[in-house]
Amino acid sequence: MDILKTKADMQAWSARKKKQGKTISFVPTMGYLHKGHVSLLDIGKPLGDELVLSIFVNPTQFGPNEDLDAYPSNIQNDLNLAQQAGVTAVFLPDKTEMYGPGYQTHVSLDLLPQYLCGRSRPVHFGGVATVVTKLFNIVMPDVAVFGKKDFQQLAIIRQMVKDLDFNIKIIGGEIIREKDGLAMSSRNAYLTPAQRASAVCLSQAIQLLKQKVAQGVRSVPDLAREAKALILSFDQTRVDYIELCDPKTLEPVETVQAETLVAMAVQVGKSRLIDNAVIKTA
Ligand code: PAJ
Repeated sequence: MDILKTKADMQAWSARKKKQGKTISFVPTMGYLHKGHVSLLDIGKPLGDELVLSIFVNPTQFGPNEDLDAYPSNIQNDLNLAQQAGVTAVFLPDKTEMYGPGYQTHVSLDLLPQYLCGRSRPVHFGGVATVVTKLFNIVMPDVAVFGKKDFQQLAIIRQMVKDLDFNIKIIGGEIIREKDGLAMSSRNAYLTPAQRASAVCLSQAIQLLKQKVAQGVRSVPDLAREAKALILSFDQTRVDYIELCDPKTLEPVETVQAETLVAMAVQVGKSRLIDNAVIKTA
């Protein structure tokens, strides 16, 4: 497994592989890998001759009061997991390598970032779109795999790839969960035992919404109220949003559609956790 720390080395590595006729599969991450990330590597592995993992805690996608400085890291463990998953190269740049002095270009989208997490994280998706554009230009993959855990991020990447004509196939991986339903996340590491117990409220709220829709409830305000009450019945929880929306445009809906995205962000103690599911009525 090769470890590349500069953009020039990564680009040269990918150019060499391409010259040999090899295809490149890519999984971008911010590290502190868990089974969710590994599932994306497992999806990516058979889709290319080479499998590249990037680990970069991207400062431009964190707002001023977010957890950039506290973001967890364990590079040695990440490299072990990468090796086991059959990664052939790890791109591991530092901040100045990615954003040198005088950096001034940003990628932004008009509509998709305005919804859901974009409301309380106004700079987040611009930072994601910018860094992923840069990573695509540095790694030059044929295929890239992103998790549905970050549903809005995946929608934004798909839109960006289409709008900016990247010749890269985007694959979405299912959400990997703990046994009790909590979606795996690097941020779960911040939870105290009491908060960890409360963190099941998101997946339980999704289950409740699925049940209610199956029972015929269609009113979004009614559904959102029930989900919110369930979440607030757990200790140390604060609802950022619970929304039901169109899975393509992310526009809120008033009534449940044939396919409806339920998405939520809940503050549990200091950690802001997200979860989602697409609910089908048929
Ligand atoms: P990070 O939060 O490290 O996540 C990397 C990838 O793993 C994302 O595509 C995310 O959706 C996926 N992922 C996280 N938890 C998952 C789970 N429980 N099940 C399935 N997939 C999961 O997302 C980012 O990093 C960054 O925004 C990045 C795209 C790297 C740009 O900086």
